[in-house]
Amino acid sequence: MSSRRDFLKTSAGVGVGAAVGLGSAQPLRGAPAVRKSVVVPVSVASGNGLEAVETAVRNVTQGGDTLDAVVEGVNIVERDPGDASVGFGGLPNLDGVVQLDSSVMHGPRRGAGAVACIEGIKTPSSVARDVMRYTDHVLLVGEGAQRFALSMGYQLEDLLTERSRRRWIDWRATMSDRDDYLTLEETGHAAPGSSRQEDYGLGILDSHDGVRPQGTINCNVINSDGDLSGVTTTSGLAWKVPGRVGDSPIVGAGLYVDNDVGACGSTGRGEAVIKTCGSHSVVELMRAGMSPTDACLEALRRIVTFTVEPRLRNAEGRPSFNVNYYAINKNGEYGGAAIYAGGRYAVCRDGETGHEDLAYLFERRG
Ligand code: GLY
Repeated sequence: MSSRRDFLKTSAGVGVGAAVGLGSAQPLRGAPAVRKSVVVPVSVASGNGLEAVETAVRNVTQGGDTLDAVVEGVNIVERDPGDASVGFGGLPNLDGVVQLDSSVMHGPRRGAGAVACIEGIKTPSSVARDVMRYTDHVLLVGEGAQRFALSMGYQLEDLLTERSRRRWIDWRATMSDRDDYLTLEETGHAAPGSSRQEDYGLGILDSHDGVRPQGTINCNVINSDGDLSGVTTTSGLAWKVPGRVGDSPIVGAGLYVDNDVGACGSTGRGEAVIKTCGSHSVVELMRAGMSPTDACLEALRRIVTFTVEPRLRNAEGRPSFNVNYYAINKNGEYGGAAIYAGGRYAVCRDGETGHEDLAYLFERRG
């Protein structure tokens, strides 16, 4: 993958292109001049998205629609009970109920759709795409989102796997030493599948506050015409307050696509991304001429500036949480960055699929 990193370095600072062959879409004011008319298809995703990026690039290379390509990619992860951060098998809320969030954006059609707090549907990204395609709305939530999904033919299923349920029971038992739930040590029973090491290994789950796991998948793609789409999907913050909505289904926060400029999505602490309009900020910074990596880093600096609450800062006064951005610009240049070092993201380009290191602001979380 070193050739890809070289590509990143040489591409830094190159401006992004305006619309070429985009039908009636007009470049917005401030969109930089066209640099390239033919683009090498590329897809980027969070670290748990290797299969997703490969699927997305394969689809667009065969002439498939860019949004269908990324949704098919993340559907693999949503259906995978082994990924505890997304869809089926996602970690539940405070009450032990899996509530899912997702958004999609279609670059050429300027389309957006999203669902939040949806229960019982394995593939919320597909439902978000249906909200975009079959309604006049952008965001459906909770029971209404589920009813819409059922009307479209989705199956109602139990999304709580035994493994995720055991982890929730494990967490519940440690909440207080004044309630009637016994800890694992007190019961003498190990919780099957409660080891978190395998999830943390690839950065699939990040730690929100040192206790609660959090994960998501974002996947973006560009085809050879320079058309872009993106999707973000998640089970959100583990053990969250029922009804909590993160950044993933919020257009402009967990995902943003402007077909004149680029696409960006996020994983990590959603509250920080929402407050800074994260993915929209990254796209606007690319519009102003920044490379994808530099734009991601600058948007992360805004999060650092916004993090003033002592409860969210470590001993060095820095955020006690992490956020990651993944971006592609109109020329097919791509990048990703995190607040803290050590993260990787998935990339598929030119027949190669693999992980690359995220750029970062700080070496250690402290
Ligand atoms: N970024 C996912 C969430 O906060 O829900």
